Order: sequence, then structure tokens, then C-alpha cells
Amino acid sequence: MHPDHAPTAPMTEMSAELWNSAASVLETNWAGDHMVPSRRLYPHQWSWDTAFIAVGLAYVNPTRAWRDLRSLFEAQWPDGRVPHIVFDPAMAEADYFPGPAFWGVPSYGSRPAHGSTGIVQPPLHAVAAWEVYRRAAAHGAASAQQARAELEWLYPRLVAQQDYLTGQRDLGGGGLASIVHPWESGLDNSPAWDAALANVPADLSLLSVYRRRDLAVSHAAHRPTDTDYARYVGLVISYRAGDYSDTGLLERHAFAVECPSFNAILGAAELALAQIAGVLGLGGKADTHRERAQHITSAIVARLWNPETGMFHARDVRTGRLTAARCVSGLVPLMLPDLPAERVAGVLDAMRSERFGTPVPSYDRTAADFDTMRYWRGPVWINANWLLRRGLMVHGLRDEAEDLRAAMVRLVHRNGHFEYFHPETGEGLGAPSFSWTAALALDLLADRSVPAYAKAA
Ligand code: SER
Repeated sequence: MHPDHAPTAPMTEMSAELWNSAASVLETNWAGDHMVPSRRLYPHQWSWDTAFIAVGLAYVNPTRAWRDLRSLFEAQWPDGRVPHIVFDPAMAEADYFPGPAFWGVPSYGSRPAHGSTGIVQPPLHAVAAWEVYRRAAAHGAASAQQARAELEWLYPRLVAQQDYLTGQRDLGGGGLASIVHPWESGLDNSPAWDAALANVPADLSLLSVYRRRDLAVSHAAHRPTDTDYARYVGLVISYRAGDYSDTGLLERHAFAVECPSFNAILGAAELALAQIAGVLGLGGKADTHRERAQHITSAIVARLWNPETGMFHARDVRTGRLTAARCVSGLVPLMLPDLPAERVAGVLDAMRSERFGTPVPSYDRTAADFDTMRYWRGPVWINANWLLRRGLMVHGLRDEAEDLRAAMVRLVHRNGHFEYFHPETGEGLGAPSFSWTAALALDLLADRSVPAYAKAA
């Protein structure tokens, strides 16, 4: 444990044990200049993983938190997009599919040996950078000085990321970013995409040309099906065919969806940028970021709310229809402080209902196709619950936030730092020693504070 960053709350034996095991996962998964999510299943650097991981590294090794964020943003494209994977040149093409040769992305950024993918992931990095900064600032002048310098380096890059997503990616023209591949959501095979994916051909022969690597290192029952995987590969080939350009994309690409969770994170990023701009003495910019957060919030409410289900849903930009599936992504807009009170109440009702419950599963427990094992189709994920806990705190629901925190801590302590968990038994699923589970466990043990823009309790 970094002596300066130990939690201030007294540690029980259980929490000390969890703290030490979490710190050791992050030690094992550090790869020199970036963190891998999992040594076996995900041996490169992933974008939104880096954000969650930085939140935890802030306690045990803030220098690595900054290094990891820098490594990711050094691969940013000239158009502002931050790739969902930055490849490690020390790994072979066969270690992960689809690897750098498959994506065929030109060398961008200041580390040309590192290839990347051409798609993005939820832009949680401004939130993460702010969290690392505010912890560093509390631990001495040198640490605060380093943190300020890192914020100065990151700020224009974070703004460019937002500009890309709110500009080129506003494919629906209503003020929200579209995802053009399910992997961009971070919630890969969520039922939220089923309706939109039905339009995407599933060419299973692609999987005999390109072999899935994930099934060699994880259980098939925990992972997306071959039909979904064939669609994922087909969508990469389609986006790649236009050199990953977004111009005129709707005419030539079969998948474009507005995801409530992706866009809620986009809005939360503007609020974090407002805080960062304030620290950097860019007061006028802070107001602009807050206004942009309000616009994103209004667009989420106008475009993604379903009055019949009383929660948010993904919208297929090609058909204009909301998906019927009730997914955890439809609760995440709770993170936004300007969400109108009746929408907050709706989301809370859904969260407290038998469809979800604590900790919150990735999909409606009462749905006929609820799957307790498979990736984003039922299991409990710590990152999604961490975002929801933040939402509860933002709206002043401290007791409920505390219950959710305690449930997550218990789950990880009993079952280990798994990628996801069986929603009934708590059994660990997917990859063991998973970095963001460990990183967020540190934050859940150490932090009881409320985001600065939270409503009064
Ligand atoms: N999560 C994806 C995978 O399973 C890619 O981002 O590899």
C-alpha cells in the first residue's frame, strides 16, 4: 500500500484482506506502461478499463494511474477518437482476436509501434482524471503538482475526445453520440442491441476464417455466442471498409445506436471537464462544459426515455425505435445531476423492483431470456454498479448508496476479483484477477465522499 494513500476509514480484517488482494491484482496486471484488464483474456490496453483502473490506482500508485491514462491518450487519433484497444507490440497477433493486423489502423499518436482499433468506448476518462487529481491533491505538494501537470496535458485531449463524439458521432442529429459497434458500449452482448443487430448479417463462415481466441481462454457459456461474434466481426469489416470514417456512415453501415449509458458517461465527462477547467484557471470553459452536460441530459431525456417502462432504453438510429429490452444501461443516466425529478424517480423504481435489485444485474431478472452466466445478459458487473452508486450519491440517496457499496464489497470479498458474477449465487465468472474489479474494490473500501456536483441530501 502506498503509505500516503491508505484509506482514512478504519479497516476491518475483511477489508484489509480485500484491499491487499486488490492491490496485488493491480501489481500483477501492470505491463510496464499500461495495465491489462486480464493477463489471459485481454492482454492489451482497453479504453474504459483504463478509466476505472485509474480510479483505484489513485490510492496505491497514482504515478501509474497517470502513466496508464497517458499511454491511452498517446494513441488518440487526429480526429479526437480514443481507440477502444491500444495494442501492445510485445504480444503476438494470435494472442487476441481481432488483433492489430485485422483492424489495419494506420499508426497514430506518439507511439507508432502500438496499433489500435478503430472504434471507441465510453468516455469515462475525464471523470477518472478528476478522481485521481482530487486524491493526489490531498497528499502533499509534489503529488498535487504532478497531478496538475497531468491535467494540463490531458485536458485538450479529453476535449478533443468529447468533440469527436458529440460532433462526428451525432449520427442521429439529436445531440447524442451513436455507437457503431456493440463493443463501443462496453456492454458487448447486452440484449439492448438485439433488435438493432437483427439487421446485421451473421456470416458464421467468418469464424472459420478468423478463429475466436476468447473461447480458448474462457468458458463458452460465459461469453457471447458465435452468432453474435460473427456479427461483431462483420461490423468491424464494414467500418474498416470505409477507413473508419463516420461521414455518410448510416448509408453503408448496418448498426448505429444511441446508448443511454454511453451518453450518460458523455454528460458526466462534461461535468468532470468543468471541474478540471476550474482547476486550470479556465473559468469560462467550465461554464461551457456545464452547458454541454445539460444539453446531453436533455437529449437523453427527450430521445431515450420510455414512459411505458419508466426507464431509459437504447435507440436504433436507423429505425428511430427504442429497444424493448430493460438493461442496466437504462439506469445509468442516474449519474446526471440535472436529470428531472420524475425521471430520477422512475429509474429508482426500476432499480428497486424485482427486475433488478441489489447488486444490480446487467439485465432484467424477470425477462424470459435472462441468462445468469453469459457476459452482459444477466451477470452482475462491478463497474456498472459503481456507476449506479455514484448516481445514488449524486441524487442524495446516501443510505441506498451505502447498501450498494456494502453489497459490492461482500460480493468481491467472498468470490474474488472476477470480471463478472452470477446474479444469484455470486459465483465468479469470466476472467479471474480482473483489473477493474480490483481497482473499484479499492475505491469502494476507501471512499465515502460525494461527487462535488451532487444534489444536497
Ligand atoms: N470486450 C471485447 C472482448 O470480449 C472487446 O472489447 O474482447
